[in-house]
Formats: sequence, C-alpha cells, structure tokens
Amino acid sequence: MNDVLVIAGKPPRYDQARIPGLFLIAVVALLTACGGESKTTFDDLGVNRTAFNWYLPDSAPLPVEPEINPMTEAKFQLGRHLFYDRRLSGNGTQSCADCHQQSIGFTDGLAVSVGSTGELHPRNAQPLLNVAYNATLTWGNPSLRTLEQQILVPLFGEFPVEQGINDGNQEQILERLRDESRYQELFPDAFPEQGDPIDYNNIVFALASFVRGMVSFNSDFDRYERGDSSALSASAKRGRQLFFGEDMECFHCHGGYNFSDSTFDRTQTFIERPFHNTGLFNINGTGAFPENNRGVFEVTEDPSDMGKFRAPTLRNIALTAPYMHDGSMNSLEDVIEFYAAGGRNIESGPNAGDGRFNPFKDGFVTGFEVTNQEKADLIAFLNSLTDETYLANDRFSNPWSTP
Ligand code: HEC
Ligand code: HEC
Repeated sequence: MNDVLVIAGKPPRYDQARIPGLFLIAVVALLTACGGESKTTFDDLGVNRTAFNWYLPDSAPLPVEPEINPMTEAKFQLGRHLFYDRRLSGNGTQSCADCHQQSIGFTDGLAVSVGSTGELHPRNAQPLLNVAYNATLTWGNPSLRTLEQQILVPLFGEFPVEQGINDGNQEQILERLRDESRYQELFPDAFPEQGDPIDYNNIVFALASFVRGMVSFNSDFDRYERGDSSALSASAKRGRQLFFGEDMECFHCHGGYNFSDSTFDRTQTFIERPFHNTGLFNINGTGAFPENNRGVFEVTEDPSDMGKFRAPTLRNIALTAPYMHDGSMNSLEDVIEFYAAGGRNIESGPNAGDGRFNPFKDGFVTGFEVTNQEKADLIAFLNSLTDETYLANDRFSNPWSTP
C-alpha cells in the first residue's frame, strides 16, 4: 500500500516537503494542475455525505470532504491528539499546536515561525479556522489543494525543517506513538479495518480530519447577520458599511462567508483560486518581492505571478497579529494605513522600492482617504469577527491536559 507523493517534478523549494517513499495519497492527480485562476469542477474533489457532525449553524454551507478521507468523529479525535503531541517531531520538541495556539486563533504570535531545530520559516503562521473552505492552502501556493497534501509540509519539510521527521527518525517516532496507551485505542477506532494502523498515512489522514473539522461561525458579526441587530456596536456597523463599500474595496478580495475570495463548499460547481499582489514590495522598481516570499511566482515562475498571495480569511483577525505573509505589519491600524496609501513604500535597505507602483499590483488596491473615525469604525468591525466560543471550544483544545 505504499506509494510516493510527488509534489512537483521540480527541485524542492522551501515549502515543499521531500517526502520519504512512504505514503499512499491518492490525490496525486490533483497536484498536477497548477496556475493562478484555474478551475476545477466540483466532482474532481469528490464528496462524501457522511454522518459527521460539523456543529455548523444552518446558515453555513457544508465543507467538501475528499473521497479518499471521509470525515469520522474517530479520525477527528485521533487527529486532535496528534495535533497536540510533540512526540510527532524528530527531536520531540514541537507539535502543530506550538505554531498554532488556540488562545490566539491558532497562530503563534511571531512575525515568522520557528521550526523544531531553530530554523526560521519565511512565513507567518496562519490562523486555523474554516480551513476546510480554502480553495488552496498556505499563503500563496496554487498546487496545495487538500489538507492531506499540505500537512506533509510541516511534518516532513526540509526547507525549512519544522517538525523534522526524516528517514533517520521516522521509525523511532512511530515507536513512541505505539508505546502510548491512548493511541492503542484511538488508531484502531479511527481505522478499524486495518491490522496495524499506526502509520504515517493514517497520521496525515487523522490530522487532516481534525483541521477540516475546525469550523467557526459564531462571532458578533455572525450573530448580527443571523438577525441580532444588537450584536454589533454603532461603530462596528459603520465599519461594516466601509468594509463592503466601493471606496475601500476590501470585500472584493475578502468577501463571502469566510472573508476570502478563495473559498469553496458543497454548493459550488466551479472553484476559483485567485491570488493578488497588494503592493507590499517593489524591489528596485522591478516589481520583485523578497526571495522565498514571492508568492505564487515561487511555484509557477511566471513573472506575472510575482507577489501574488491568497486573500486570507479575516475571521479572528484581532487575535492573529502580526499580519501579512511575512508578519511585517504589527497592527490593524498599520494594515488600514497600508491599504489607504495604496501599497507600501520602503525607502531604504535591501528591499527598498515603492510598492504602490508595483507593476503587478491588483487593480483593487488603489488607495483611499480615511479619517480617524473611519479607521476606528473599520477596526471595530474587524474586531467583531472574533469568535470567542471557538477559542474556548473544548473540541479543539489540548486533549492531553484533560484527564
Ligand atoms: C514551525 C511552525 C509550524 C508548525 C510546527 C506547523 N505549522 Fe502549520 N503553518 C505554519 C506556517 C508558517 C504556515 C504558512 C505556510 C506557508 O505559507 O508556506 C502554516 C500553514 C498551515 C496551514 C494552511 C492554512 C491555510 O489557511 O491555508 C494549515 C492547514 C496548517 N498550517 C496546519 C498545520 C498542522 C496540521 C500542523 C502539524 C502537522 C502544522 N500546521 C504545523 C507554521 C507551522
Ligand atoms: C486586491 C485584493 C485585496 C483587497 C482589495 C484587500 N485585501 Fe486584504 N489581503 C489581500 C491579500 C492577498 C492579503 C495577503 C497579502 C500578503 O500577506 O502578502 C491580504 C491581507 C490582509 C490582512 C492581513 C491578514 C493576515 O492574516 O495577516 C488584513 C487585516 C487585510 N488584508 C485587511 C483588508 C482590508 C481592511 C481591506 C480594505 C481596506 C483589504 N484587506 C483589501 C487581498 C486584498
């Protein structure tokens, strides 16, 4: 049953795992398609209408489940244990939860993440919520389309090393897990048809099931949209008008129920995967972004993909500073000033250049006038996207610390 997952026929980049020849992941066909705005039909991804309870309000659409890994509560619970387990790293010091902490929206509070051996990641840790709806995964990679693919990167990636599982330690790590009495029940519960279920394929499938099940639709904004007009303050209501208005243009890229234009669910026939250059850099006036952080260009090497990233969800945004793919903005106020200026002008240093004139910048980032009151209103609206119940939800908390 062992097969190789090939992420692409190119030499490894920083965000590609070089995967030991271990895994059966039947999504390889999905990996071959590439490109910014390509469309996949719904059927390509498969759907299983399982009995899994998503705990979603009626207003939220159901996420798609891949045919190869339908949702079950047993896989979700196993994945939750693995997510919080540092034994699942080469030197036993790092779990997913170290970079994705529940109290701060499953981010790590750092500008860029640090792997288990101390290597710096070029990117800021992303919030985990409603990831099941993301049409692509990570900040700017059109080829990462399922969690089953994406999760290989932190586990096995070498550029940089995150959890640092490799040929030299993978057996030892499985031994650590086999010695844990909880796993002796959790793995067979999750994969009942298998004789010896503690393997990497099942680890990846269980982690994917857990992350897929991490859904959040209970912010003040959601309550307001469901009809409770007192859920938003007067200031947040004004901010909502600004956000969805044609002056600030935010909603063009951060629209829809997940505040991202790169969203899919079971109601959609076609999936769009847009990426945008927002004018953060323009090194030497050439349009360039810093090495390793050039967005979709890193994958496609198409010059017009320079600096293009996925519009991230803005849910829980008040908790997940610092902002942007490189963590280079400290506050929501900085972010609003950046959009108001229509890009970022870096006056000196190795990245000097005026991002406002980046030739690949998206037409919706044009700049606008903003008063202090409007800034405060927009921030009040962004604050209303925090889901406190999600942060306190035991379904997503550390199962090892509860008896
Ligand atoms: C060293 C810190 C670190 C660890 C450990 C880590 N992550 Fe992440 N995670 C990140 C960073 C940084 C990104 C953004 C990566 C990029 O854009 O290339 C990310 C992105 C993601 C995404 C994409 C979210 C989206 O909106 O597209 C998912 C899902 C994810 N991580 C899940 C996990 C899981 C599951 C684990 C454990 C197997 C894990 N991460 C371990 C730092 C980490
Ligand atoms: C052209 C599309 C586009 C428009 C218009 C746009 N954004 Fe964004 N937004 C993005 C993209 C793409 C990113 C990620 C950029 C990066 O990291 O390089 C982003 C990032 C952000 C972030 C940081 C998210 C995080 O997790 O770090 C915030 C906050 C944000 N936008 C708010 C806004 C607001 C408020 C507006 C309106 C004033 C707006 N955006 C308009 C595309 C857009």
